[in-house]
Amino acid sequence: MYSKDKMLITGGHPLAGEITVSGGKNTAVAVIPAALLCDAPCTIENLPDIDDVHALIEILETLGAKIDYVPGKYMTVDPTNAKGYHVPYKLTKRLRASYYLLGALIGRGHHAEVAYPGGCDLGSRPIDQHLKGFMALGADIDDRGGMVYAKADKLVGGDVFFDMVTVGGTINVMLAASKAEGNTIIYNAAKEPHIVDLANFLNSMGARIKGAGTDVIRIRGVQKTHACTYTVIPDQIETGTLMIAAAATRGDVTIHGCIPTHMEALTAKLLEMGVRVTENDDSIRVRPQGVQRAVNVKTQVYPGFPTDLQQPMTALLCMANGVSTVCETIFDQRFKHLDELRRMGAKIRLVDRTVLIDGVSELYGAPVTVTDLRAGAALIVAGLMAKGVTEIYETTYIDRGYERIEEKLRLLGADIRREKI
Ligand code: EPZ
Repeated sequence: MYSKDKMLITGGHPLAGEITVSGGKNTAVAVIPAALLCDAPCTIENLPDIDDVHALIEILETLGAKIDYVPGKYMTVDPTNAKGYHVPYKLTKRLRASYYLLGALIGRGHHAEVAYPGGCDLGSRPIDQHLKGFMALGADIDDRGGMVYAKADKLVGGDVFFDMVTVGGTINVMLAASKAEGNTIIYNAAKEPHIVDLANFLNSMGARIKGAGTDVIRIRGVQKTHACTYTVIPDQIETGTLMIAAAATRGDVTIHGCIPTHMEALTAKLLEMGVRVTENDDSIRVRPQGVQRAVNVKTQVYPGFPTDLQQPMTALLCMANGVSTVCETIFDQRFKHLDELRRMGAKIRLVDRTVLIDGVSELYGAPVTVTDLRAGAALIVAGLMAKGVTEIYETTYIDRGYERIEEKLRLLGADIRREKI
């Protein structure tokens, strides 16, 4: 990635105060392509001002959509003259979620040519289930030369049974099926909060989707959709990252604008460690006290412990009292942060897909490199805990998914800044 700047953190400052979380990245990257299914301009609010959003603006404009974007306020998408259906690699390599253009373009005009995505390297990330879903709706799929070519004379609703729970697959089939003829049922659907958010957005433009948030989603295709205004949900993973950072620095942080029910798996783990967590309607307060006990974590699909919080949680557990285990069941190579944590003094072993963490009494600042978005979150948490200065390179990954994260942490008392390399 070769970022032009590095992040410098001097650890040991407890985070204290109040912060408001941004809109959700993983909901934004689904809702923005979904705007192509609208037959009139639609307005989306509470989007995070992150690079993934900027990349999607460029992609939609390339397809002919007109975008009016005021960061931190709203984005209006007018897709009425979007005739394009080709999305080249130079655009798709900027974000994993570019594959949602397949579902949106197939749903909109029954024709899509989208290069395979880029995004975080977490091991093999096939999209066979997405393609299986499109074919179940009647699309012809040709997958060659790093491109997916999809075409359908007409899209007819059908049943899709996913071999495994896939967030991307569920979202992509919802996009393609929303304007198909007839009914589609998705079995073994993902239940993440951003799946529900996307269904609510599509329904607000006139789609007819039921069951989002359960493992069976029913979609009754519609021919016409209408203008709408929608506010996306807060970022579940940023909320969790800030909760973990508060626990890691033994601070006292209240996170506003979040949805506590989305955080239950993490909240339960922090309580198990002995961290005080109190929930209100739309805020969570994290107030660590005394010893933080080692725990065992196993990532699961929602509502289980999110894989996207596995990496920052691993950093927190490096200084827990005792031996913790973190088992990653979703991705086969989501462990690139371990080497970097070891450079900071962490005692970590990887056995198959389980990290064994022997809690130490101190971590030490060191130069470290970000390998993927949530590895970046892990290194920020470790830097906040460590004695001395941590230099974090390849910060571009972090900017893809966290809106002004160092500004938020500085507001809470962290000694964190960027420096040109
Ligand atoms: C989404 O990725 C998120 N990305 C990921 O967040 C998140 O970690 C993941 O869901 C799980 O919650 C976005 O929303 C943009 P999956 P996705 O399809 O859709 C396998 C972040 O940090 N699989 O649920 O790619 C796959 O290899 C990112 O914000 C197939 O085998 O995840 C994985 O092992 C990282 N074939 C498992 O299923 C398929 O066709 C779950 O993947 C699809 C998936």
